[in-house]
Amino acid sequence: MSTWTHRHILDLAAFSREDFATVLELAHRFRSMPATGARRLPALQGRLVATLFFEPSTRTRSSFELAAKRLSADVSTFSPSSSSLSKGESLLDTARTYVAMGADMLVVRHRCTGVPRQLADALERTGERTVILNAGDGLHSHPSQGLLDLYTLAYHFDASNPLPEALQGRRVVIVGDILHSRVARSNLWALTACGADVVLCGPPTLVPDAFADFLAAPPPGQTMDPVAQRGSLTIYRDLDAALKGADAVMTLRLQKERMRQHLLSDLDRYHRDYGISHERLARSGASIPVLHPGPVNRGIEMSGALLDDLGSNLVESQVSNGIPIRMALLYLMAAAESSVDSPPLG
Ligand code: CP
Repeated sequence: MSTWTHRHILDLAAFSREDFATVLELAHRFRSMPATGARRLPALQGRLVATLFFEPSTRTRSSFELAAKRLSADVSTFSPSSSSLSKGESLLDTARTYVAMGADMLVVRHRCTGVPRQLADALERTGERTVILNAGDGLHSHPSQGLLDLYTLAYHFDASNPLPEALQGRRVVIVGDILHSRVARSNLWALTACGADVVLCGPPTLVPDAFADFLAAPPPGQTMDPVAQRGSLTIYRDLDAALKGADAVMTLRLQKERMRQHLLSDLDRYHRDYGISHERLARSGASIPVLHPGPVNRGIEMSGALLDDLGSNLVESQVSNGIPIRMALLYLMAAAESSVDSPPLG
């Protein structure tokens, strides 16, 4: 952990392979611990974690709050609909209100790209010690989701040693609404940093050709890529062809709330062309795990039968793994700020 340099966690583009290993290794230790009731870990005792979600969430917010409580932090939940936002209070003033109440960490979700970074910059300018953890901003980034997906896959491939090496040379297909997906963007940085070859699949309206260059330039805000050698990135339009030789497939929710134009003419046709089902997997000869970050549009990106088949999909494992991953992130951020109790020995 001595190499950990991330004060705020805003995206995964700035993570080195060692950073991914640090998070996965720590999460694996947290995962194997009973962490309820009196057996909570004292690491964040006396710290205040505030969850500021300006967009709906079931998994991410609950999971961060459980993670914080398992590390003995105090937790404060902000609810936009009953807040002073409706009286005209600004986003920054809302965040500052939580800082004034002693928040050590703000976990922020917002529909606009860049809001967590803007808050982090504003707090840095005034010398606040409060740190920001991005829980999903616009189309940009969802770092904790990318990390829990990475851990879920690493654990699937090597349960005894779920570290970045488990991803090396694996072919991972991400299918669906890549255009609107911060999850896909986070997974692209995470998976390729760990040596996985990523295949993006979908119609041109949802997977524009420009995505082929996603990894070509240094990550935003960096002069050079922190990863020496990334896995590859290719685009397929035909899902059956994409699935040939794949080691895993991740399907994404169609984000209708973010679609400003009519990008799809027919949802039945979309399911036929890009939906994942038992029949599709059998046809492709692919006996591979299926991931989905949730929430799922049943019968559109994934068939209801496949979603209910917990032997074939990793959706519930993704949700469960979210807690130790978020414990690891909160722990590392607190440790970067000042000393905290040592993490448990595995
Ligand atoms: N995967 C995800 O971010 O789910 P929520 O929107 O429920 O948090």
